[in-house]
Amino acid sequence: MGKGLYPDTWADNAYDIDYKALYAHGFRSIIFDIDNTLVQANKPATEKAKELFARLRSIGFKTCILSNNTGARAGTFARAVGSDVVTGALKPFPGKYREAMQVLGTDRSSTLFIGDQIYTDIWGANNAGIYSILTMPLNPSEEWWIKIKRLLERPVRRKVIQSPQRWTKGKNNIALIGFMGSGKTTVSHALHALCGLQELDTDQMIVQREKMTIAEIFAQMGEPYFRAAEQAVIESLENTHGAVISCGGGAACRKENVESLKRSSTIVLLTATPETTLERVGSSTERPILNGHMNTDYIRELQEKRRAFYEAAADITVATDGKTPEEIAKEIVSYIKEFRRR
Ligand code: S3P
Repeated sequence: MGKGLYPDTWADNAYDIDYKALYAHGFRSIIFDIDNTLVQANKPATEKAKELFARLRSIGFKTCILSNNTGARAGTFARAVGSDVVTGALKPFPGKYREAMQVLGTDRSSTLFIGDQIYTDIWGANNAGIYSILTMPLNPSEEWWIKIKRLLERPVRRKVIQSPQRWTKGKNNIALIGFMGSGKTTVSHALHALCGLQELDTDQMIVQREKMTIAEIFAQMGEPYFRAAEQAVIESLENTHGAVISCGGGAACRKENVESLKRSSTIVLLTATPETTLERVGSSTERPILNGHMNTDYIRELQEKRRAFYEAAADITVATDGKTPEEIAKEIVSYIKEFRRR
């Protein structure tokens, strides 16, 4: 058995996906379903489909059509759009997905799948262990047996649309914790681009509530006031779903915050060496905790003091040194999927 019926994310249709962002996340090839994903069932390749494949080639993607069909249709379609093809797919069995990856010369981490049916397309992609995107079916009038499948799909599809990030183990959020400069904000942007999670930032929420900058709050109201505001913000997020929550660097050092985050989120700890941290925050004037201490010795010392808190809170830890935010986001998604299977 694979990872189940839930796709990694969903899109209205295959034409509106941000393929450049997916390329930036390290994907290099795409396996496509045809019917009701690229064109209506049994229709030939449209100009729109040909343009899409030309665009994908210009970005640098390789493509493969994967069809359950055994006749000439899939081959004719693939030739028209200039794509590789594998037929007789027997989705949801994973064998032909693997064959498609061999044809494309890519592996599970660099291949993604796009299709409109849950019980064949998405289930199969999950069984093959590749990233999957569910699209809404193009054709409203379908054969009777597909209509029955659509009825069976309905509960899953509804859940997927209400909350695309089902792989977050029933907890719909990802909370990013870690020291200042560990990359929480940039990784949050990358997670938003990769799987549509809404972005929330506890520091920004405090700034909005208090109508003061973080530096002003520390200077005028003191750190205990800031920590109480931080706790209130974190607790207010317990009923939030489908979000990536970037937490201030000190948030995980308070027991109440961690307990609250554990109820709502999978907690991901981002780490960075003192040298990387200094590179990232060295010129910041918005980190009162580091005022007058912008050096690696102080950063190392404070990181060591906080380490036990961070590690006790984290479900998953990802080192960020030398990696792009996109690579880190992808790593987080695959770790969370592993975590969910445990
Ligand atoms: C703090 C980190 C900051 C901010 C505040 C306190 C800390 O957030 O919450 O300045 O104690 O480490 P970032 O980690 O986003 O810089």
